[in-house]
Amino acid sequence: MRMDLNSVYQRLNTGSKKWSQYPEDVLPMWVADMDFPVAEPIMQALKNRLEHPLLGYSVAQDTLRQTLVTHLAHHYDWHILPEDLVFLPGVEPGVNMALNTLAPSGSGVLVQTPNYSPLLNAPANWKLPRVDLPFHADANGEYPTDIAALQSALLSVRSLLLSNPHNPLGKVFEREELRAIGDACVQHDVLIVSDEIHADILFDGRRHIPIASLSREIAARCVTLMSASKAWNIAGLKTAFAVVQNPELRERFNAGRLGLVDSVNALGLEATQAAYRLGAPWLAQVNAYLQDNRDYLAHAIKTRLPGIRMHLPQSTYLAWLDCTALDIEHPQQFFLTQAKVALSDGLEFGDDCGHFVRLNFGCPRPMLEEALARMERSLLQR
Ligand SMILES: Cc1ncc(COP(=O)(O)O)c(C=O)c1O
Repeated sequence: MRMDLNSVYQRLNTGSKKWSQYPEDVLPMWVADMDFPVAEPIMQALKNRLEHPLLGYSVAQDTLRQTLVTHLAHHYDWHILPEDLVFLPGVEPGVNMALNTLAPSGSGVLVQTPNYSPLLNAPANWKLPRVDLPFHADANGEYPTDIAALQSALLSVRSLLLSNPHNPLGKVFEREELRAIGDACVQHDVLIVSDEIHADILFDGRRHIPIASLSREIAARCVTLMSASKAWNIAGLKTAFAVVQNPELRERFNAGRLGLVDSVNALGLEATQAAYRLGAPWLAQVNAYLQDNRDYLAHAIKTRLPGIRMHLPQSTYLAWLDCTALDIEHPQQFFLTQAKVALSDGLEFGDDCGHFVRLNFGCPRPMLEEALARMERSLLQR
């Protein structure tokens, strides 16, 4: 069944984080959840589960493990075993568990910048020094990994945090690039923690490649973190999973729960199963809609907001906007106060990113149009 993705849902007073942070006259285009209703098969699975009036502690059933094994094989040509899966209440706890239990004490952690702030901040949580590897846009506006710089940075770290597809750049790593990263980590004996939460949002016919799928040697040092939460818009159900194919690594990783990371949400498990088993038609429609939104946004920025430069994301519903040419001290504050549009502040993603903002275009087109109209007006009036 096709969904009506153009309808704007009223989310005030639903406990939505996105819609609670700012006053009611502010249009929220920041935190990464979408303003689309959940796929019908997921809603149905949740309703079916609620027919049973007991909601005790829950564990993933074999059927869910099998569904995920099949999804990873079918969509990414990645062949894992059901026991490689570890269920978690979120990707962020998984990243922190991995660093806490698997990174040697005091060892460096390499992070590509800019990056999603919980990834930037995770090493400090465990008193591990962070080493930055900056992305630089090339002549085509792409952000290739500088493999020579990576090779030398790997000499001073024992772990790499990867974001693929990348938030906030919307970059999908190429096979050769990922292979070079993975091989370099094997060569330097570096752990790979790969955050692949945006894996199922892909534009222009792209295919996601998990780094752990590239070789047995790479897989043996990988903790890959995934979730249905971004693609199927169920982040509030707090369910994610790790794939750790190396049994010794998996055992140590699991030990990192430390009484802080508990079992998984009962409804989240149901929703995850329905998403991966029955959610493909909904996702195809949403991906196409997001790609249209991306193109609409890129065109509007080019023609109506010429002081802003937008790199075309290949994945995610997040646009990384370079506002340098606007010559505004703090663009996020400017658009918040003058346009009443809440964007994510570039500074969250890197100390030198104050002239960037991140715009979430995972919303009905009328909402995106309204945000752009407000931003355009605010610039004309300044
Ligand atoms: C790259 C990335 N990793 C992790 C998360 C958060 O994951 P979770 O809510 O499962 O902890 C997000 C959410 O925006 C994200 O963009």
